[in-house]
Amino acid sequence: MLTKLLKISCTSRQCTFAKPFEAMPGPRGPWGLGNLYNYMPIIGSYSFLRLHQAGQDKYERYGAIVRETMAPGQDIVWLYDPKDIAKLLNERDCPQRRSHLALAQYRRQRPHVYKTTGLLPTNGPEWWRLRSQLQKELSAPKSVRNFIPQVDGVTREFLTFLRESSDDGDAIDMLPKLTRLNLELTCLLTFGARLQSFSPEEQSPQSRSTHLMHAAETTNSCILPTDQGLQMWRLMETPSYRKLRQAQSYMEGVALKLMESSSSEQSSLISTYLQNPELDRSDVVGTAADLLLAGIDTTSYASAFLLYHVARHPEVQQRLHAEARRVLPDPDQPLSADALRTDITYTRAVLKESLRLNPISVGVGRVLNQDTVLSGYFVPKGTTVVTQNMIACRLEQHFSDPLLFQPDRWLQQRNALNPYLVLPFGHGMRACIARRLAEQNIHVLLLRLLRNFELIWRGGTDADLDVVTLLINKPDAPVMIELRSRSK
Ligand code: HEM
Repeated sequence: MLTKLLKISCTSRQCTFAKPFEAMPGPRGPWGLGNLYNYMPIIGSYSFLRLHQAGQDKYERYGAIVRETMAPGQDIVWLYDPKDIAKLLNERDCPQRRSHLALAQYRRQRPHVYKTTGLLPTNGPEWWRLRSQLQKELSAPKSVRNFIPQVDGVTREFLTFLRESSDDGDAIDMLPKLTRLNLELTCLLTFGARLQSFSPEEQSPQSRSTHLMHAAETTNSCILPTDQGLQMWRLMETPSYRKLRQAQSYMEGVALKLMESSSSEQSSLISTYLQNPELDRSDVVGTAADLLLAGIDTTSYASAFLLYHVARHPEVQQRLHAEARRVLPDPDQPLSADALRTDITYTRAVLKESLRLNPISVGVGRVLNQDTVLSGYFVPKGTTVVTQNMIACRLEQHFSDPLLFQPDRWLQQRNALNPYLVLPFGHGMRACIARRLAEQNIHVLLLRLLRNFELIWRGGTDADLDVVTLLINKPDAPVMIELRSRSK
């Protein structure tokens, strides 16, 4: 009897009695045919565009671990408990993700351009071959600090662009502007090239900058619809696959042109990678395309949520402004790398708190490398498991006043907070390769903005800004902010 109810899971280190996978609570759909129908417009109560709401609902109905059958044979296990999240993300041996499948097909069909499917969709030893060669330039603290003068220079131009974009007293829709900033930064750091995307010509709908911004967002928005469900794009070109192919083809063309013009004298990520004998040219093309895709919207959406929170909290702004004055006594002078490393404790806490409430990804996904026990249930190797950090970060049992924006919690209670809850960049070997760079860019932006302006929220008072999921979480309404110049 006992063996019917319990399954023995044996790993190399231990044997554990576990409840069977079949017993894990969660939606399986009518006759076990899957819950995908529930995400369909009109008939379903969930939506891929509001994954956080579906995540909250599943937590309330089923608890801290949920097995959702999407289609027969296609399960997702959702985790809300930081103990399970820690176990999942500390997996070694090439952690695997199952995402960007249609992007992988697009690249596989173009072997004359790409050697691999790139960092985002590739798994196993081929992923590690790439990652181990790419991460020093993108992740090592010293390499990342070297980017500060370029980032600071472009951010100062961005402030001028903002000033010119509005008359005194007008609110600015910040997200499209932030997207231009992060496009400019991504291209400068990746290729050593300036797109001049703040210029009037580049702001036109036909310009290269505008097309690139749209192509990145279009690709991102096609990832979830092509990853989930029946994947008919494997048999014929579906509308989502066509959009992805056209957007990728445009981005690839730009990446190739920028690579051609990237000289070895101008320091850039690509010029360094091209000199690495362990990487060949087609590895570098794939990397360039990945950085263009992963670098623009992620940082723009994260910055937009951050400015939304800051603009609504004048007391937070006062402290940020005081910190910005300390590190930038003269706003016309460059930001020093030393000051950024040591003197911006409050700025860091503000970003961390914004990413707690509004991470740009609902959680982190893995395909299990081995049989595992999670919350007492046996979960077989090969299962897709996704953490629900955004929902877990908004629960009373993990954070006091969880829905309030309180950066001080990162200064006063930091040690009491579980480190596996706020993971906006993922965790472990497969975490975001550009985490330090992205954080640094956002710190520079926040310090420069707060040194020069007071931010006033003009986006309405009725309700909090919510999120819409286009693979990554985007503000679901314009982020309208008035910028009032401060005296020097
Ligand atoms: C605030 C900004 C950003 C956030 C919140 C973010 C978040 C993430 C997350 C959650 C992952 C998955 C991690 C995991 O599976 O454990 C990831 C992966 C990745 N990110 Fe970022 N990211 C940001 C900015 C960037 C930027 C600026 C770039 C490049 C210029 C970038 C490049 C990548 C790449 C290439 C991967 C795949 C890494 C791999 O699979 O080895 N990200 N990012």
